[in-house]
Amino acid sequence: MLGIYIHIPFCKKSCHYCNFHFSTSLKNKEDMIKAINKEIYQKAILNNDKVSTIYFGGGTPSILDVEEINLIIENIYKNFNVGKNIEITIEANPDDLSKYKLNDLSKTKINRISIGVQSFIDKELKIMNRVHDSKKAIKSIEMAKKYFNNISVDLLYGVPDSSIKSWNYNLDTISSFNINHISAYALTVEPKTALESFINKSILSMPDEDLVYSQYKLINEKLSSKKFINYEVCSFAQKDFFSKNNSAYWLRKKYIGIGPSAHSFDGKSRSWNISNNKKYIDQIRDGDNYYKKENLTKVDQYNEYIMTGLRTIWGVSVKHIESNFDVRFKNYFLKKIKSHIAKKNVYKEDDLYLTTQSGRFLADGIASDLFLVNLKN
Ligand SMILES: C[S@@+](CC[C@H](N)C(=O)[O-])C[C@H]1O[C@@H](n2cnc3c(N)ncnc32)[C@H](O)[C@@H]1O
Ligand code: SF4
Repeated sequence: MLGIYIHIPFCKKSCHYCNFHFSTSLKNKEDMIKAINKEIYQKAILNNDKVSTIYFGGGTPSILDVEEINLIIENIYKNFNVGKNIEITIEANPDDLSKYKLNDLSKTKINRISIGVQSFIDKELKIMNRVHDSKKAIKSIEMAKKYFNNISVDLLYGVPDSSIKSWNYNLDTISSFNINHISAYALTVEPKTALESFINKSILSMPDEDLVYSQYKLINEKLSSKKFINYEVCSFAQKDFFSKNNSAYWLRKKYIGIGPSAHSFDGKSRSWNISNNKKYIDQIRDGDNYYKKENLTKVDQYNEYIMTGLRTIWGVSVKHIESNFDVRFKNYFLKKIKSHIAKKNVYKEDDLYLTTQSGRFLADGIASDLFLVNLKN
């Protein structure tokens, strides 16, 4: 089982909060597609696993022409061993989704679309510097429903100037569309973003943690009444609509990342491609090295297992720790987890340790308390 992630490093405009890798200049678009196709060919030679998911992320994959997207998909099919019930997702921005584009996309092998709405409130979309407005966000979902059965929408909470009332409005609006998957991210202030400089200059301020937690609780309340499961901190889906791509990522399955800045993981090592469009294109063309690789130690693998387990409904299994690591890891985990159980952020079910609702919101902090720095005998 293998996932393929394709990073499309172009956006129309720079959102104030985002530090993913992208360029707002499309001048290298054709050369980028060629380089991506060459990387697909090279990586396929080294890999025979059956591909179960393909994910176009970015950046903004929907900025590409449908012919360009199709070329990449066909190239993957030609070179990799692609499974039958494959999930193929494309991230799309509402401003790219005309009915013609949706119609053309629906004729490709893509069977899942993830729309980056972020908010249905114009004031919030302006603060974020999104290209689209709320009217376009609504229209894009209405139209996408005519062409795709499997739709996800991305929303952001914890936004400056947001409140419980504004978040409630966003949740009511998304609920009215009856879609089956929602990714809701708490906005984080990333280094070197416009948002960081607005915060430093006191032009904007981030909401306090209590409000952000209340907003997280509200998503759970509203969506659980519609039978959504919070299968990972940011991911909410009805039964049968969990993203196979996201689930595989959180269950630490293998994936290959293609394109500038894309990461790959094979269970024991991680590699990441250079985050520069021109250098990526040149180095792929010239056969030079375009990525760095890190072998994961047992301590790294344990830390990652704890972090991903606590973020999800699949939890942390003591048997897994014992059989994949050793008794020192198990003893350390069992000693450190006690205080989190006492605070009711974690509970035990048979062999599994799982986060409660409050604990899942705090999963990264709890995980860092359980991380091993080094291992003493
Ligand atoms: C990087 S975007 C790529 C897809 C598409 N361009 C979009 O904007 O939806 C994927 C998701 O990451 C989220 N994201 C980016 N920066 C973030 C931040 N600082 N805090 C929380 N979510 C963030 C975006 O809002 C989006 O939903
Ligand atoms: S959030 Fe999406 S559209 Fe905005 S800059 Fe980041 S990748 Fe581009």
